[in-house]
This record gives sequence, structure tokens and C-alpha cells, in this order.
Amino acid sequence: MNARSHAIFPRVNRAGWFDTLRVLTAVVAPTVAKGIIIRRPTMERLAERQGFDRTAVEQMQRLRNKYGPAPLLLPIPLRPQLLILDPADVATVLQSSPEPFAAATTEMHAALVHFEPKNVLISSDSRRAELRPAHEHALAAADRLHPYAMHFKNIVDEEFLQVLNLPRELDWPAFSQAWFRIVRRIVLGQRARNDVTLTETLNELRGRANWAFAAPVDQRKLARFHDQVGRYLREPEKYSLVNRFPRGDELAPENQVAQWLFAFDAAGIAVMRTLALLACHVSYWGKAVEEAIGGDLDRPFTRSCLLEVLRLWPTTPAILRQLTKDIQSGDRVIARGTGVIIFVPFFHRDPALLYANRMEPSIWGQNDALPAAGLVPFSAGPVICPAHNLVPTIASLAVGTFLSAAEIVLLHPSLDVANLPGTLNHYGIRLKLIARRREK
Ligand code: HEM
Repeated sequence: MNARSHAIFPRVNRAGWFDTLRVLTAVVAPTVAKGIIIRRPTMERLAERQGFDRTAVEQMQRLRNKYGPAPLLLPIPLRPQLLILDPADVATVLQSSPEPFAAATTEMHAALVHFEPKNVLISSDSRRAELRPAHEHALAAADRLHPYAMHFKNIVDEEFLQVLNLPRELDWPAFSQAWFRIVRRIVLGQRARNDVTLTETLNELRGRANWAFAAPVDQRKLARFHDQVGRYLREPEKYSLVNRFPRGDELAPENQVAQWLFAFDAAGIAVMRTLALLACHVSYWGKAVEEAIGGDLDRPFTRSCLLEVLRLWPTTPAILRQLTKDIQSGDRVIARGTGVIIFVPFFHRDPALLYANRMEPSIWGQNDALPAAGLVPFSAGPVICPAHNLVPTIASLAVGTFLSAAEIVLLHPSLDVANLPGTLNHYGIRLKLIARRREK
């Protein structure tokens, strides 16, 4: 097919060497250093202290001002990348995925191969066509409420009410222990509740995945991890997510479920941050408490609060693509294999937005993606996170469990609600829980 038939971008600009280097040092390096697959606590703390995330957004703005909003080609030797600078192009790229913008990029492959080498995200187009529907079915991607939502609420309540019964501060270690019990029960079933080893093995593999190309795959550990997951898959428990995944080995289910177990970490981080943010927004707090006490499983306002947290501090800061064919742009041909980078915080924190650095739940309405405005915490289009409905449901139930049982004071860090920071290090959040007396 003629490259001219793919005039997706009418114009592409080319960055100079110095600007390319600035992007690598001020945008790419800090994002990678914080840990793409599992966050590194020391780097997260450093980013918070040094304001790396704000600086990255400022660098991106500088580039847009200098070169204009058209995609910017970074001429990195061997790995040229197109940097998206216009929200309209965010929508185009995501809508035109996985063809010609494949999600299976070289970088993504190098990272995910450490713990899920056959996952949908790094699969060929034809394989994706088989795998994607299985994820969508299991996670009930199209349904606002997952069919097991009531069961999930009971799990969330049971685990977090135990945390709430202990009068103390809530920090990340305490929160995450309970959170991963919830995750194992939701994904794998009740008998996985205390399988801490499974989570630890996955975390070790994720630690290697952070190094991508720079670390060899630990094949023995990978096999052990898949074997551990396989035990739950062979006899799936009723009302677990694995129970909704098609039976049989053809879809490499361990590789698919690994992504679920991994990605629930981000959802936990977002829940912790939502609690912190609500604790310093009295009126939003009141509305979220009303929803929690109301008892409906669908909690639109709390969902919007979670989306705001994911807008302000996206847990997937970079959405990556790779061109599957040459594309023509003006008199330039962008070669097949060129990478495409959507650096999400640049759009989510665009200073032109009145609400760039504060919480504004109303912007979401009934949506969980606003691609035309570049607001895509779960991405958008055909590759959108298939848990884009499931995560807000479970997260809003989790937030509700705390809100309906306790007053929450944010002990650390102190947040300026009119100018929220670029980084909110979840490892450092400390909340004081004051159990509310139940009315008789
Ligand atoms: C805060 C929580 C989460 C966020 C913000 C999030 C966001 C994302 C994003 C941005 C992508 C990449 C999409 C793209 O490249 O266009 C993705 C992919 C994916 N996510 Fe999530 N995710 C979260 C949690 C989860 C959970 C809990 C699950 C499963 C239970 C999940 C399952 C997946 C799968 C299977 C993919 C690959 C989709 C594909 O390649 O077609 N995610 N997610």
C-alpha cells in the first residue's frame, strides 16, 4: 500500500539534538527511574522532593512552544520516537490502535517479557484478536458494574474493616497488605487470600522488568510464578475473575492473569491517594460519604474522584505505540518501527486547563476517558484498559468502606489544594483513622 494513503499527521516536526537530549534527561529518564513496572520508593521520594514531574511537564511545554503542536520526531539513533504534543493527536493515535499504532512496542516487550511474555499487550495483531475478547469478557470491560460487584464489595469490606478495627495510622505498608489480600481474593479466589509468596514472586519479576533490556529474564522464577498462578487456574473458584477467563491453555492464561495481578497495584495506589485527597477537600468528602452510606454499588461521584487522582498522578505516565507501517507526513516519511510517546502528565496537567493542578471531579461526567482533551488515565480506543470500568468500581467501593466507618485526617504530606504537587509519593502518605461511632 502507498505510504501516502496514511496521511495521519499532516505535519511532523523534527527536534534538534539538544532538545532530544533534554527530553531524554528531563522526561524519559525520571519516568523510567521511578520504575515503569514497579515503583522504586527511593526514586519516588526523590521525584517528590526535586519536583521531577513538574519539570518534565515544563520541558514538554517548552517544546510545544518552540516547535508547535504537530508531533515531534526525536531522532534518537536506532530508536526514533514521535512525541505527541496535541490532544487531537492523542485521540487519533489511540483510536488508530493497534493498526497502524501497535501497542506491542520494543520497549514494552523488553519489560513485560520478564513476567508475562505472552500477554495481550505485547502480542501480534492476530494474536491480540484472540486474546483481547477474553480479557474483555473476564473483566466485563463494557459493563459499568461487573457482574461480581456485590461479591467484590463483601471482600473489600471484610479486609478493610479489619484494618479499621485497629486504631492507628494507616500507611502504605499496612494498606497494601490488606489491598493485596483483596486483589488475590478477587482475581484468584478465597484460597489465594494468604498466598503472599505469589505476590512476592511477581514483585521480584516486576523488579527485573523495570530494567527491561538491561536484565536477563529469570526463566526459573518466571516458570515458578506461572506455575503458582496455574494452580488457581486449574480449579477456578466461583466469583473469582479467573473463573470468567476461557478454560484451556491456548490463551496462555497465566500470562494474561499476571497483568491483572500486576495492574491492581496501581489501583491500590490510586485508592490510597484518593483517601488522602478527599481528607483535605471537605465538600467532596461529604458527597463521597453520602454515596458510601447510601450503599449503591455504583458511586459516580467517588468514581470521578478516583479519575481525578489518576488525572493528577497518572499511574501509567506514558502510553507507547510503534508504527506498523511507513506513514507520510508532508514530504517526510516516518518509518515503520518508529516509536510513539504519549506523555500523559503533559496533557493532564496542561496549565491552560483551569483545573490543571487542583481537583475537579465534575470534568468527568459519565466518562472515564476524554481523549479529545488528552485526558486518558485508562487510555482510550480499541486498546483501552479492559479494567476501565472494573477498577473505578472496586476503588470506589474501597474508598467507601473507609469513608463510611471513619473520619480521616491526612498526616503526611501536607497538600495545598489550590496547587497540588506534580508527585504524590504514595509510600509516604500517612492517614489518621478515627472510627466513627455507629448510630444505634
Ligand atoms: C489504576 C489502575 C489501572 C490503570 C490506570 C490502568 C491503565 C491502563 C493503561 C493506560 C493501559 C494501556 C492501554 C494502551 O496501551 O492503550 C492498560 C492496559 C491493560 N490493563 Fe489496565 N490499568 C489499571 C488497572 C488494571 C487492572 C486492575 C487490570 C486487570 C484486572 C488491568 C488490565 C489491563 C490489561 C489486560 C491491559 C492490556 C490491554 C490490551 O493490550 O488490549 N488494568 N491499563
